[in-house]
Amino acid sequence: MKLEDIKRVGVIGAGLMGHGIAQVFAMAGYDVRLYDVDKTTLEKARDRIRDNLGVFVEQGLFSADEVGPCLERVAVCRTIEELCGGCGFIVEAVVEDLQIKRSTFLKVEGLVRPDTILATNTSAISITEIASVLAEKGRFLGTHFWNPPHILPCVEVIKGAETRDDVFETVYALLDKVGKAPVRVLKDVPGFLGNRLQHAMWREAFALCDRGVASPEDIDRVVKYGFGARMFFLGPMETADLAGLDLTRSIHRYLFPYLDNSTSPAAVLERLIAAGALGVKTGRGFGEWPPERIEKVIKRRDRVLLRVLRDLGTGAGT
Ligand SMILES: NC(=O)c1ccc[n+]([C@@H]2O[C@H](COP(=O)([O-])OP(=O)(O)OC[C@H]3O[C@@H](n4cnc5c(N)ncnc54)[C@H](O)[C@@H]3O)[C@@H](O)[C@H]2O)c1
Repeated sequence: MKLEDIKRVGVIGAGLMGHGIAQVFAMAGYDVRLYDVDKTTLEKARDRIRDNLGVFVEQGLFSADEVGPCLERVAVCRTIEELCGGCGFIVEAVVEDLQIKRSTFLKVEGLVRPDTILATNTSAISITEIASVLAEKGRFLGTHFWNPPHILPCVEVIKGAETRDDVFETVYALLDKVGKAPVRVLKDVPGFLGNRLQHAMWREAFALCDRGVASPEDIDRVVKYGFGARMFFLGPMETADLAGLDLTRSIHRYLFPYLDNSTSPAAVLERLIAAGALGVKTGRGFGEWPPERIEKVIKRRDRVLLRVLRDLGTGAGT
């Protein structure tokens, strides 16, 4: 499948990620088909997209006149058979479960054209393992969008052991065309790129909390108002170049022996979970999350991200 032959995009799973992924392609003018086993989630998806588009319009990033046509480009499908017809590219964003993902793709494989490209939005499951049940593994790969997918530009394009090069490059070009900042992940390693980096930091953050070095609020503050604020603009490699690689090496020589290298989740995480504190879903985690705070934080997060990203552009100006 060539980039110019992709006219219709299918999204399977219309939850947190799926509805936003559908929005990305609809905003770029693609005909989108969306399916979910849960009828309520499916029915809500277009309203969620409408609300998201409202924020884009408010920030001057999308024309109010385009909202109606954009929503019309998203067709909600009652069956997976209905979704598959005519799709050149299909992204799966169902629950994070290997067997469910495999059975979804097995079904899809029997319903699509031989050249339709198939992608999974899995956070952590091996692309190669999902693909192993398919007859044609070369057209399968990972496209890891970040939450919120309609706002954050990065999409990790992950090559499975048997993904064909032309498929990989077509999907990279497609994501670039719809305004995303795709990244090539050339090997199917657990956690891909972003989650390895992110969770390496969370391991250290939770360990510092466990050792009583600082409160959870202060650990968040050092990231948000310290190096995290700079990360909008400069990645770790660029920051190391600016700091000096010799200085970086000296710090690593001294510091690495003190960094957490546990291979199991932190005690504080186990304690909180045992006490029923799961984060926003139970109203309490490291912090308190009454419903009004959740809504305020998510709304503000989306507006701040859109403002900053609008100024930076996906190339971040460097
Ligand atoms: N939430 C995140 O921050 C995030 C970020 C990146 C990737 N992901 C990944 O994206 C995928 C979806 O995550 P989410 O957060 O949107 O979850 P979610 O629970 O919000 O949505 C998943 C949807 O899949 C539907 N579903 C389940 N089985 C299905 C099936 N057989 N066919 C069709 N639909 C089915 C569910 O009804 C649900 O609406 C997961 O693989 C997840 O790991 C999530």
